Amino acid sequence: MIIAIDGPAASGKGTLARRLAGRYALPHLDTGLLYRATAAALFDRGRDLSDVEAAIAAARGLALTDFDEARLRTREMGEAASVVAALPAMREALIQAQRNFAQRPGGAVLDGRDIGTVICPQADVKIFVTASPEVRAQRRALELAARGEKVDYGAILADIAKRDARDSGRAAAPLKAAPDAALLDTSRLSVDAAFAEALRIVDERQGRRNA
Ligand code: CDP
Repeated sequence: MIIAIDGPAASGKGTLARRLAGRYALPHLDTGLLYRATAAALFDRGRDLSDVEAAIAAARGLALTDFDEARLRTREMGEAASVVAALPAMREALIQAQRNFAQRPGGAVLDGRDIGTVICPQADVKIFVTASPEVRAQRRALELAARGEKVDYGAILADIAKRDARDSGRAAAPLKAAPDAALLDTSRLSVDAAFAEALRIVDERQGRRNA
């Protein structure tokens, strides 16, 4: 079973994807880390975020495991990731590795922005996770504070608005729900309630597949 989870920044998709992967004993790929790691590699090499050739080389050189999450999950790296992620040629360089991951025997859970639309249009289950910008900013503030970053709620809310606009407005694989994705708005849901709803969606989709 391939489960595709997409949604905007801090919508709760990562947490859901991890829990679903645990529940069904499937490998999980947080594809945002690929874009974050590409941006980090460009910083390390002293390259500009708009340097397409360097971005392609960095993307091709990534291993899909052993990410330095403490470094990659910062606010700065999320912002940089969304800048490099708008380069169509660097996205191309990451497609095959993501598809290979999805094709593992038994399946996989992938989360990102374009999993249900571009990477795995044939996914068995697609969930598009949303939440209001204010709720997402609050969650992101808590997450960054827990990682020891200094947080400014207003700045995070502004980041989220900017990233939503950039991720949804780009020409290459924009953030949008696949027509056959189930929508899950987590604005008023606890983590457990969102997970229960996701399980219900998976059951429903599997039932439909087996019918
Ligand atoms: O955790 P959060 O949602 O803030 O970010 P992320 O999922 O780690 O993604 C960081 C950035 O990478 C996003 O703002 C997107 O621009 C980009 N991204 C993408 O374009 N396609 C994906 N499949 C995953 C992430």
